[in-house]
Parts: sequence; structure tokens; C-alpha cells
Amino acid sequence: MRKHWYDQQTIYQIYPKSFNDSNHDGIGDIPGITAKIPYLKQLGITTIWLNPIYQSPQVDNGYDVSDYYQVDSSLGTMTDVETLIKTVYEHGMYLIFDFVLNHTSDQHPWFKQALADPQSKYRDYYLWQDPAADGGRPNNWGSFFGGSVWAKDPAGGSQYYFHLFDKRMPDLNWKNPAVQQAMRDVAEFWVEKGIDGLRLDAFIHLAKADFRQTYPNRTGDSTPIISDMFYAHLPKVHQYLHDFVAVIKAKHPDTYVVGEASSADPHLMVDYTTPGTDECDQVITFRTFADDNTQDDPSFSDTFQPRPMDVTAYKQNTVGIQAALADTSLPTLYWNNHDMARVATRYGDPDYPQASAKALATALYLQRGIPIIYYGEELGLTNIRYHDIADFEDQTVPTFVASAQAAGKSKVEIMRMLNQTHKMAGRGPMQWDNTVYHGFSDHLPWKHGDTDDMNAQAEIADPDSIYHYYQQLLQLKQCAPFTNGQFIMLGSAEQLFTYLIDDGQKQAAIVCNLSAQAQTYLLPFVGGKVLLVQGGATYRGRQVTLPAWSSLVVKSA
Ligand code: NOJ
Repeated sequence: MRKHWYDQQTIYQIYPKSFNDSNHDGIGDIPGITAKIPYLKQLGITTIWLNPIYQSPQVDNGYDVSDYYQVDSSLGTMTDVETLIKTVYEHGMYLIFDFVLNHTSDQHPWFKQALADPQSKYRDYYLWQDPAADGGRPNNWGSFFGGSVWAKDPAGGSQYYFHLFDKRMPDLNWKNPAVQQAMRDVAEFWVEKGIDGLRLDAFIHLAKADFRQTYPNRTGDSTPIISDMFYAHLPKVHQYLHDFVAVIKAKHPDTYVVGEASSADPHLMVDYTTPGTDECDQVITFRTFADDNTQDDPSFSDTFQPRPMDVTAYKQNTVGIQAALADTSLPTLYWNNHDMARVATRYGDPDYPQASAKALATALYLQRGIPIIYYGEELGLTNIRYHDIADFEDQTVPTFVASAQAAGKSKVEIMRMLNQTHKMAGRGPMQWDNTVYHGFSDHLPWKHGDTDDMNAQAEIADPDSIYHYYQQLLQLKQCAPFTNGQFIMLGSAEQLFTYLIDDGQKQAAIVCNLSAQAQTYLLPFVGGKVLLVQGGATYRGRQVTLPAWSSLVVKSA
């Protein structure tokens, strides 16, 4: 039995700056999103997740918040958000906001106050530490955005403050009850405004270990190194999370909470989503993905080297998550988000763009769980291709470039690798039609480069398009046995992805060829009805024949 509205949803993720520009400045905005609600409804979306829209200096495109109670002026006004909420509601849909609770912008008044007056109560809203004995950084812990987690007090004091991401994004001190209260107040403000849920950004990092600890390395030097054991998944995270969620749910029990738990393994996923604990309803882990690194070029940094999917490892990860969560919560199902390259570029086959997009979607979205579709994915949108290294806006890129150059790679090759793998290449403008700037804007978009020729208008007009396939797939997802079925992975050849969904009454077999080589497969049952087919897959009796990147969904009789 389904218990919550969010058990049966299909989420669509919108990067607001890149979706639809209504005020001619080349930056997507809230009214632009509102105008496209009918498009999303038509596609079969039930819930919209917006990346952060709060006031922000945009160092990290909105994940650096300077005022949680204001909408960033480049995206619209509070009235625009209210209109969006109303329109979503009128369409029978739901809206969830990104909620950035681990850090603020250094331009947030709390941090400014903390710098201006070390005696102020806001000093303790952040994490401060005295220098090490040699006067240097307190420890060798590394930031996810490169370099150390420590930055010197810019006001001239001797202390350092902690930042897990950019140094302009200081981490909040969740030990401080005033911080916990302040963040609960923000969440309540937005829930009372009418949003239906929160995507908790980086919540797994809320608790930090004792700062006097060093991560040992062989050289004994103090080069910063990512040290997850000191700032990811510490036991205290559960308490902070619970105290935050329980208060919101006490007043608004229908609020949906999906947590970004990027490095959570299946057991941690269970821990964060166990019913009755008032933590997350679902989590988003990055641990499903598995790339084949056997072809990496060892002569330079592997950070942005393109890699094919390791299908077997991907299947193993899927099984691990599905098995662990079977009696606990629904997995989230996604191929891409704003922190990674687009799936069409990463795993799609340029020789079979349509079939590969459809096969990948079929392999994933009929599984037990909640689909999260990244804007443009329903068109088979590929990465944008930039011409300038500065477009990647990432402190770790210069190190990669230097290493690739030292190994003799040309600028063209380096740009090709970055354009294929970097998250910024996955954040290009949505492509609505074939006019200039693809109907995203009539102004040069904030992110621009070369793009592939595809757009929503053309795909809506083409019954065989990826768009229409997604529409059918999402419709199917709303029918038995997919609404309530268990996931059972079936054994198959390496490049096939095959599983059963079984609700105790009916079974559906999903058979996908994730390669350009033709394959055959024996179904676990005879007969039945074809629910969805693409790429020329056929079956007779139990025998399925699968040309390149084809797929078949068949229901038992
Ligand atoms: C995770 C978000 O998905 C990412 O885009 C952001 O940079 C970090 N959290 C910091 O907020």
C-alpha cells in the first residue's frame, strides 16, 4: 500500500538559470519556469525540483546563499515564486526546493558579522580553529573544490574558518543550537509558503570530527587531502537531521525530504531512510555509477578522462541498492544531474542517439523507485561544448589541464575531454525550438557554446522521438506492476540490462541492450503482452532478439 503522495512521483530537475529566460537577459528565471509547467505536465512529470533560487553572489550558482528569505534578483521576485507555486498546484503537481543547510555564502550577514566582530554571537555560527603549532593551517583536510578546507580569517585575525566547498562558502556550525533553529525557521518559511518538499544539499557533512586530527600520509607533509572520515556520515548527522526534519514534519507531515547523500553506500541509505526515524524519505547517492577506467591514459591526471560505463559494475551497484532498500524506502533513479555530464554524452552512443537514450531510460526508470529526470534529458540533450577553459569555472580544472599538457595533449584534446566529462558542460541552456538560442532566450545565454541539433518543438512533432518515448515510459510507470512491484535482477550477458518487476500478481520483464552489438535473450516466461518496444527488438515464445541499443518491456499473461 502506498502511504504518501511522493511514493508515486516522477521528479523533473530544473537548473533555473538554464531552463527558460522570460526577461531577455540570457539567464533563465522563475516566470520562465512557470510558463513551461504545461510542457512538464504533458510529459508526465508530477514533481519539480528547483536548484537553489535564493539570493546569492552566484559563486556556485546559488549554492552560496546570502539571504534565504529572498529570491535572487536574476531569477525573479517573491511574487514570481508565489505565482509558480500556485501554477504548479493548479496543475495538480508538486514543487520541491533545494535547501542549502551545510554552508552559507561569505556575503551572508551572519558571516559578515562573524568577521566584523569576533565577540558577536554570529562568530559561533561558523567553524573556527586556531593555527597549527607552526602557524599554518589547523590540519591537512582537503576541500571538495580543491585545496584546504581552511581559509584565514579575512578580517586579519589569526584563526582559520572551515569550508568544505569554495572558500566563499563557509560551513555552518551545526553544534550551535541557534544555527539549528535558524535553519528550521528558513525551512518552515518556505514550507508555509506552499512548497511540498526539500532536497537537502550536502546534509551528510553537517557533523565534523575533532579538528586536531590529521589524515596520515606517507610523506608526512601537509598537502590537503580529501578526508571523508572526518566530515562525512558522522553519527551526529543523524541527530541533526532528525531534529530538523521532525520539527518540520510535526507541523507539515506531508513534506517530502530527499537528501543528497552523494557518498552513501546501501547501508547508509537504509540508515538515512528508515521509516519512523524522521530523517529522509529518500536519498540520492552517486554510488550507483560505475565507469570502466581500464582504458585511462596513465600519463596524466584521470580526473576528466572520458570513460565508458562499466555495465557489470553498474548492475552490481543497482542490485546492492535495490536489495538493501527493498523493505525500507524507494531508491531514487537518475542518470544525470547538475553535478555531472549529461547521460547522452556520457553513456549514449553517438551512432545510435535515439535508441541509446531510450534503452538507457528503460533500463533505469521502470525499476522500483522514483525517477528524477534532468531537464533536457527527455530530448536526448547532449553536453554543451565550450571553447574556453574558463567556462568550466572550477579550481580543479587548471591542475588537470597542466597535467594533460605536460603529457603532450593538445588544447583541442583537452577541451574535448572537459566538454565530455565536466559538470558545467551538463548545465547548458534548454533547447525549446530551432530559433536563435533555441528559444531559451533572445539574448546570448549565460552559458553558450556548440550544441547538437535537437529541440522540444521538433520532438513533440515526431511520434518516434525520445520525448514521446519518455512520455510513454512515464505513463507505464503509473500502471501495475510498476506501481508496487519488487525489483528482481535477471542474469544476462554483460551488455544486457534485464530485470523483472513483480507485484505478486503480474510480472513485467524489462530487457535492454546497452551496446551496439546485437544480442539475444531468453525471457523467464512465455507469452504476455508487449508494453513498450524500441530499436527493433522482437520476441517469439521466450526468445528476444535485440538489435543495437534496443529494448523491450513485456508483461506476463
Ligand atoms: C552539492 C550540489 O549538488 C553542488 O552543486 C554544490 O556545489 C555543493 N553541494 C555545494 O553546495
